[in-house]
Amino acid sequence: MGFKVAIAGATGNVGREMLNILSERGFPADEVVALASSRSTGTEVSFGDKVLSVKNLETYDFSDTDICLMSAGGDVSKKWSPKIGAQGCVVIDNSSAWRYDQDVPLIVPEVNPDAIAQFTRKNIIANPNCSTAQLVVALKPLHDKAKIKRVVVSTYQSVSGAGKEGMDELFNQTRAVFVADPIEAKKFTKRIAFNVIPHIDVFMEDGYTKEEWKVLAETKKMLDPAIKVTCTAVRVPVFIGHSESVNIEFENEITADEAREILREAPGCLVVDKHENGGYVTPYECAGEDATYISRIREDATVENGLNMWVVSDNLRKGAALNAVQIAELLINRGLIKAKKN
Ligand SMILES: NC(=O)c1ccc[n+]([C@@H]2O[C@H](COP(=O)([O-])OP(=O)(O)OC[C@H]3O[C@@H](n4cnc5c(N)ncnc54)[C@H](OP(=O)(O)O)[C@@H]3O)[C@@H](O)[C@H]2O)c1
Repeated sequence: MGFKVAIAGATGNVGREMLNILSERGFPADEVVALASSRSTGTEVSFGDKVLSVKNLETYDFSDTDICLMSAGGDVSKKWSPKIGAQGCVVIDNSSAWRYDQDVPLIVPEVNPDAIAQFTRKNIIANPNCSTAQLVVALKPLHDKAKIKRVVVSTYQSVSGAGKEGMDELFNQTRAVFVADPIEAKKFTKRIAFNVIPHIDVFMEDGYTKEEWKVLAETKKMLDPAIKVTCTAVRVPVFIGHSESVNIEFENEITADEAREILREAPGCLVVDKHENGGYVTPYECAGEDATYISRIREDATVENGLNMWVVSDNLRKGAALNAVQIAELLINRGLIKAKKN
């Protein structure tokens, strides 16, 4: 007998990708239920070769559902995840609502799989922010080898990270430029077409944005609280795929060649690093792929034991939907949940 899985937010960017990934990976589900707001009730979403009719989250009974993959935003998750968890359904949440809660494990399976055991405290597991997920997949094997002291990361984040409205805004503004229509900025604070915006999420008191703070708080929670992290998060006019320029200072010696070898063997990582035209990965090529791609690995001669690298991944997959499905697989493979209908 397989599991009953609900996708809350199934009409969104991440929810639709969750449905694709469950189907692609042959996830052991007997039944998959698509949920969204009352606005979407009765609309249809694809799941493999099937079509699912979307149900209303507000009126859905979770008592015989085993796993809820939640990607309906922070407010919805704050309201619904504890209620769903109390019905014995494990919530794997994509929003930032629970990531910093001490009783909720924040998991990237390649990085801190053992922390998952704490999920029983609330029946909620958090998925990290998209830019952090790909970053820690690349940092973890290097930290194990040479102990990271400090990381400086600059992100180049695609518009799909801001949901389907973000993608529509880039499309509509680009079209408006070509037909000389007025440009409307609603989702982003400035025009995103043919521009970049150094502002993601709200400003905090110290002048950093919440997105930048998330990268450091989540890296510390999952990898090592002793690592110092600083970040500049930038939105760029790319539909899918986040890129990151990462500068790392290590406690111990590590060469670019050693880092390349370690990352070649590391789970979830793919090294593409040739010193020639096109010998690196760009977000366009990573869309629809599962790996975290690492290119441009170089020694930084301005510090002791320093490296620079370029890290790219599909934000809707490793940054959200794929990681959530991998967490569900981890729960099942470790025997931490049993299907209710058995
Ligand atoms: N995009 C990324 O790269 C990424 C990465 C990591 C985490 N996340 C997180 O994942 C979540 C979803 O992101 P997204 O990019 O998929 O957003 P999205 O494309 O805007 O989709 C939002 C989804 O939430 C549903 N929803 C909204 N209000 C609801 C309500 N009151 N009750 C039930 N469902 C509701 C929407 O349903 P309707 O169609 O009915 O409105 C839709 O299915 C967010 O928390 C986001 O922060 C996103």
